[in-house]
Amino acid sequence: MEFEDEIAKLIYNAIENEEITEDEIKQNIEIPKDEANGDYSFPCFKLSKSLKKSPIQIADDIKDKIDVNDTTIEKIENVKGFLNFYLSNKELASDILYRFNNQKEEYGSSEMGAGKNIVIDFSSPNIAKPFHIGHLKTTIIGHCLYNIYKFLGFNVIGDNHLGDYGTQFAKLIIAYDKWGDEYDFSENPIDKLAELYVRINKLCDEDENVLELCRETFKKLEDGDSHCVELWEKFKDFSLVEFNQIYDLLGVHFDTMYGEAFYSDIMPEVMDILEKSGALIESKGAKIIDLSDEGIDTPFLIQKANGSSIYATRDMATLLFRVREYDYYKNLYVVGKEQSLYFKQVFAASKYLGIDKKYIDGCEHVAYGLIRLPEGKMSSRKGNFIKVKDLLDDSISKVKDIVKDREIENKDEVAKQIGVGAIVFDNLKDTTVKDQVFDLNAALNFTGETGPYIQYTTVRTKSVMDKAGYIPKYEEINAEKLTDSSSLSVLKTISEFQNTIINAMEKSEPSYVARYLLKLSKKFSNFYNNNKIICTDKELQDARLYLTYMTNITLSNGLKLLGIDVPEKM
Ligand code: ARG
Repeated sequence: MEFEDEIAKLIYNAIENEEITEDEIKQNIEIPKDEANGDYSFPCFKLSKSLKKSPIQIADDIKDKIDVNDTTIEKIENVKGFLNFYLSNKELASDILYRFNNQKEEYGSSEMGAGKNIVIDFSSPNIAKPFHIGHLKTTIIGHCLYNIYKFLGFNVIGDNHLGDYGTQFAKLIIAYDKWGDEYDFSENPIDKLAELYVRINKLCDEDENVLELCRETFKKLEDGDSHCVELWEKFKDFSLVEFNQIYDLLGVHFDTMYGEAFYSDIMPEVMDILEKSGALIESKGAKIIDLSDEGIDTPFLIQKANGSSIYATRDMATLLFRVREYDYYKNLYVVGKEQSLYFKQVFAASKYLGIDKKYIDGCEHVAYGLIRLPEGKMSSRKGNFIKVKDLLDDSISKVKDIVKDREIENKDEVAKQIGVGAIVFDNLKDTTVKDQVFDLNAALNFTGETGPYIQYTTVRTKSVMDKAGYIPKYEEINAEKLTDSSSLSVLKTISEFQNTIINAMEKSEPSYVARYLLKLSKKFSNFYNNNKIICTDKELQDARLYLTYMTNITLSNGLKLLGIDVPEKM
């Protein structure tokens, strides 16, 4: 039986009140965050209204009526109106085993998000421009949040909001028509487009007529001229070839890649809505929204003096589209913290779109910090221009070097999993908004606080099980055998898995999961070093093996959430 059931029954019988059902009580039972507060807790203020008594009084009354000797509970305490229930070590161990067995391979997952749509706007690099390490960070964080929401039962829409709109594309069209033949775009196409861009800008500076031609071309592109659109599509395809190499290595998929230009159709309507709302103010020919009543002093620019739309206009249109299309519960933007003011403006201004307040409250900017490379190695300015693909390749080849003499079958695959996993983990292990110094060698340290360390621990759990050759049956496990401190400590940590994931989701903080996996890995290593798993006492062996199996599933599921693969061997 679940302890919640037992505790609910005890409380139900103690209060003898017809208005309150056993089920209601059960719903309110919590697992305390701090284990000092017991294994389960019941907040008595939930009953104050019905019982017309203070929580402390209620807690005392209930406590008096329960004789713990008749139960599996070791003791009950009343702490400021919270009834804290403590289980004996054996009961606690068997409770955790029971919960695990209910879910097995799905351990940690939930259906709490059923029927709710979550939009996650992440990665979102710009066409014909380099994919820099900031884009790597949003891709990794966004992917992890995506996995977390899915695991908790939400319906998730991952959108890559490509920067594919702007006058620079008109310039590139002119440049391509002029000099496109000189380049081979089958390799490093983005570099070539960047070169074209530099060349055409130079020409524009020298010759007014070319600049004018670019302006006209932009208009043609907006009006859907077939030649212009065709070239624009081509630039997109060139860029995506490079972006996809990175996405493939990271195992990232998007449900949609609409890109900014996609929203052109709704832009006039958005301008119309904003105009009618009375929010738009003329300022030197441009249109702005004054948000000072929302505590934002910087005016929000919506339209330039020449009448053209900007990044912000497209984001307003995007928001409206997402409300209509998805009726979202949450709409997350995983974008660098340098855009914090900007997103405050977008969310504040969206009240003029005539949408329900819940959609505005559902918007969140998941802001991440800057990434720098260690001083001396490469200047941080240059760091922004370091090619992400090269960084990943570099990491993979370093791992190849480390594992070259090991007995591993598919070394290339394993090197990829570890090399990529190291970078992914390093991007997730710290509080999202904190600035980060990225040091590849530190990220690759197999015994540090790294991805490879967790992968290694997971592989170790797997090899213990392989060596034993079987997974013991849950029904045959004697929980008593797992009550020593190092086993119990692993078990307790395993029991925190789902709460950790939910917290990570609520705070948009993948680092909670990353840190958790480090904790579990350390606890398991400690258990592993202190105990013989394969031993002569069959009952003991089964219990320890089952614990190893539980750890394996928990670590594997956790790594999967981060977007990290588990190698067969290391
Ligand atoms: N393309 C932008 C950049 O590279 C990020 C776009 C983020 N998403 C959004 N809806 N504004 O900075």
